[in-house]
Amino acid sequence: MLIKNRPSWEISENQATPEQAFLNRRQFLGKGGIALGGSALFLSGAAGGLSTMDANAAQSDPTLDLYPANKNASYSLDRELTPEDVNSTYNNFYEFGSHKQISSAAQALETRPWTITLDGMVEKEQVLDVDTLIRNMQLEERLYRHRCVEAWSMTIPWTGFSFAALVAYARPLSGAKYIRMETFMDPDMASGQRQTWNPWPYVEGLTMQEATNELAFLVTGAYGKPAAKQFGAPLRLAVPWKYGFKSIKSIVKFTFTDERPKSFWESIQGAEYGFWANVNPQVDHPRWSQATERVLHTGARVPTLLFNGYAEEVAHLYKGLEGEILYR
Ligand code: MTE
Repeated sequence: MLIKNRPSWEISENQATPEQAFLNRRQFLGKGGIALGGSALFLSGAAGGLSTMDANAAQSDPTLDLYPANKNASYSLDRELTPEDVNSTYNNFYEFGSHKQISSAAQALETRPWTITLDGMVEKEQVLDVDTLIRNMQLEERLYRHRCVEAWSMTIPWTGFSFAALVAYARPLSGAKYIRMETFMDPDMASGQRQTWNPWPYVEGLTMQEATNELAFLVTGAYGKPAAKQFGAPLRLAVPWKYGFKSIKSIVKFTFTDERPKSFWESIQGAEYGFWANVNPQVDHPRWSQATERVLHTGARVPTLLFNGYAEEVAHLYKGLEGEILYR
C-alpha cells in the first residue's frame, strides 16, 4: 500500500484512549435518561467546547422534534454504551483528516440543504430533500456494536430507520442486485478531499439481501438527538456485522445496480479491504490479528465474535457464497 494512501488502521494506536467513568446504560435507557446522560456528559466532558458545538448543531437541526425516538428493545446490548464524549472525539472520517481527532474539522460539514438521490435500477429516479425523507420514515433507537477493522470497538445508541424501508420507498427493479452508496464531494468544505490521490468520493456497497436484512440501519441520530457531524450527519449507514469502514457516512446517493460496486478502500487496497468485510475473529487482517478488540472507553481487550455477535441475524446471507472472500 502506498504510504500516502494508508488508512489510519495502519498507524499504531499511540493516542491514549481517555479513561472515562463508563456511563451506566440505565442512564440512557431510563425514562428521561437520555437528557440526564447527555447533560452529565456535557458538564463533565473533557471536550467541553466540542460538546457546545455539537449541542448547537443539534439544536438547529430541522428534525429535532423527532428526538428522542422510541427505543426498539429488540436491539439491546450486553455491553456498556460508549460515553458520548469518547465516541464523538474518536472518529474515522477521512474527508476531514486521516486521523481520529477530526471532530472539530468536521464541523465544517454543511448538512443543510441536503438531498438524497435514489437512482439506477428503480421504477422512477428521485431526488429527495433529506428532511422530507426522514419525516417519511419511522425513526427508532437501536443499540449497536461497532467493530473497526483496526481492532477497536464501541457501542452506540443510534437513531434511524431500517434500510429495508428506504429500499421499499425507492421501488427497485427486479434486476437490481446491489446498492452503491456515495458520500458528498466538496473539497472546498472537506479538506481531506483535496488529497487527490484518493479515489473520492467515498463509496460503499451492499447486496440487496444485505441492505434489506433487518439489521441494516440508516442513521440520522445518536445519543437521543440528531447525529453530530463527525458521525456522518445527516444520513449514514450502520451495518454492525461488518467492519466499520462499510458504514459509510454523509450519504448523498443510493444507486440500485446489477454490478458489484467497488468501494473506496477496495480501490485503494483491494488485497486488504474487500467488498464483504464481515467480522470474523478467525480470519486475520493480512497484517494483524482480528481475534480480539480493544473496547474504546475501558481499554479492555475482549474476544471478537463472529459477525460481531450478529451471526443469528446474518449468517444465512452467506450460505452458498463460501467461495467468496467474505471476511476482509
Ligand atoms: N464514511 C466516510 N464517508 N468517510 C470515512 O472516512 N470511515 C469509515 C466509516 N465510514 C469513513 C466512513 C470507518 S473506517 C469507520 S471505522 C467508521 O466510519 C467510523 O465511524 P465513527 O467515526 O462514527 O466511529
